[in-house]
Amino acid sequence: DKGPYAHYMLKEIYEQPAVVSETLEGRIHKGRLLEDSFGHETKALLDSTKHVQIVACGTSYHAGLVARYWLEEVGIPCSVEVASEYRYRRVVVPSGSLLITISQSGETADTLAALRGSREQGYIGSLTVCNVPESSLVRESDVCFMTRAGTEIGVASTKAFTTQLVALRLLTVALGRRYGLTTEQEEAMVNELHSLPRQIEVVLELADEIQIMASDFSDKHNALFLGRGPFYPVAMEGALKLKEISYIHAEAYPAGELKHGPLALVDESMPVVCALPDDPLLEKVLSNLQEVRARGGELFLFSDHKVKIGLDRYQSLTLSDIFPGTAPIVYSIPLQLLAYHVAVIKGTDVDQPRNLAKSVTVE
Ligand code: M6R
Repeated sequence: DKGPYAHYMLKEIYEQPAVVSETLEGRIHKGRLLEDSFGHETKALLDSTKHVQIVACGTSYHAGLVARYWLEEVGIPCSVEVASEYRYRRVVVPSGSLLITISQSGETADTLAALRGSREQGYIGSLTVCNVPESSLVRESDVCFMTRAGTEIGVASTKAFTTQLVALRLLTVALGRRYGLTTEQEEAMVNELHSLPRQIEVVLELADEIQIMASDFSDKHNALFLGRGPFYPVAMEGALKLKEISYIHAEAYPAGELKHGPLALVDESMPVVCALPDDPLLEKVLSNLQEVRARGGELFLFSDHKVKIGLDRYQSLTLSDIFPGTAPIVYSIPLQLLAYHVAVIKGTDVDQPRNLAKSVTVE
């Protein structure tokens, strides 16, 4: 039942504060991670993890790419690959390597094949971050870490993505503990997660402004999404959402790559979307955006209060102060809403876009 919402996708976007809380429930308390909630087997696997290989498809792959930044930040080497590539190549598995699959459905054919193939590859074990308890991935993995997003009906994944990121952030704290994360650092990370549902609520209140932005977007044929650091995979996810449901060709680039090719595409008809969090790469991104402006590209920016943009023309939406650790999660929300409103204006079938299936159970 969609309730008051026009589409399941919109309903699922609005469910995010609740399902994020749900995913945190019983797993954190007073600034600490409650590791006992992971179960003994999971804890034992994490104890011997020296490297993480993440394998997933689509949106779940993007969640893995964000997690790589997080894991490496606390000292854990991590590789991430799409399952359809991973499964068909010879892989060299470093010792002490844990395989993590990420999947909403737990039935994605390539991800499942990658897991099955991994048994002979020398991993210490497999962990799945999954949303469906009775799925094949949950059954066949050594251990699982459930997201609690509830049933996701819209083909375009939204609440599954943000809860995957929450789960991966919790795993980062758990692994970080084994790599010298201090009590103060843990407390900061956990408190950020604790505030996340409220932060998402605040962003959802900007929906009307995002709808206005979307009206300037719906006649476009192409779009570039830029980001740096963990906001590059956030840009990839934003571009995927837009292309999936609005059929506008959208590509994501790490902003620093502009000069190496994509800048040639930029003129007055090329909108550029970018999340501009207050982080150490901000100045770099601003100078990349300056290059876009100099070629007439139209800018659609999402930033937070502390950011002084200082460019000549742009549309922007200012979010309240966002914590750095969970910022990739928070900044994903306006991109979901942008894609949604563009699709609604274009009149596409938002919940069931052409040519796509919710669960990709064949290659
Ligand atoms: O169920 P999974 O998370 O394994 O699905 C992976 C992809 O098929 C899925 O994320 C797809 O990219 C979505 N339609 C994106 O919105």
